[in-house]
Amino acid sequence: MRITVNVDGTSYTDEVEPRTLLVHYLRETLGKVGTVIGCDTSNCGACTVHLNGQSVKSCSVLAVQADGAEVTTIEGLARDGKLHPVQEAFHDNHALQCGFCTPGMIMQSIDLLADNPNPDEHAVREGLEGNLCRCTGYQNIVRAVRDAAQRMSPGAGPEAERVSGDDVSRAPSAFAGGGE
Ligand code: FES
Ligand code: FES
Repeated sequence: MRITVNVDGTSYTDEVEPRTLLVHYLRETLGKVGTVIGCDTSNCGACTVHLNGQSVKSCSVLAVQADGAEVTTIEGLARDGKLHPVQEAFHDNHALQCGFCTPGMIMQSIDLLADNPNPDEHAVREGLEGNLCRCTGYQNIVRAVRDAAQRMSPGAGPEAERVSGDDVSRAPSAFAGGGE
């Protein structure tokens, strides 16, 4: 089947088999290897991307389901050479060890912050419960997400401008979309 998908701000048209998973399309056809496969059984969240602004586990979505959609991967977050505030917060709070879960954690965190711009620790843990860290670095991940919330809060500095658009609740994903 022929699909056209906008991934990280670029439109791609490709022939895919109906059974091709979105994660395999991203990695093997488009070379977006920043999206990783941890389990292939929709348990770990390592493959999380945004599909039309909502986080999804890309191993649980068929590529054909993304036809006509906008997909954002971890590779589409940086803008003008500057990391997304959530990426910066993960870096600054040492929220990664081996880094394998990090792309999915960051994509899920952005979606979480779009829904709840100032989550408490419990809300962060609940929002990330579908993402597993085999290094068990959860403490710093929670710290990073809460730090990112501060960095993205109104008046917090230049990054905040990125989330001050018309639709603030979905703005981080819109920013992540790159082409909007
Ligand atoms: S690889 Fe998709 S949830 Fe684990
Ligand atoms: S940092 Fe290694 S799996 Fe999370």
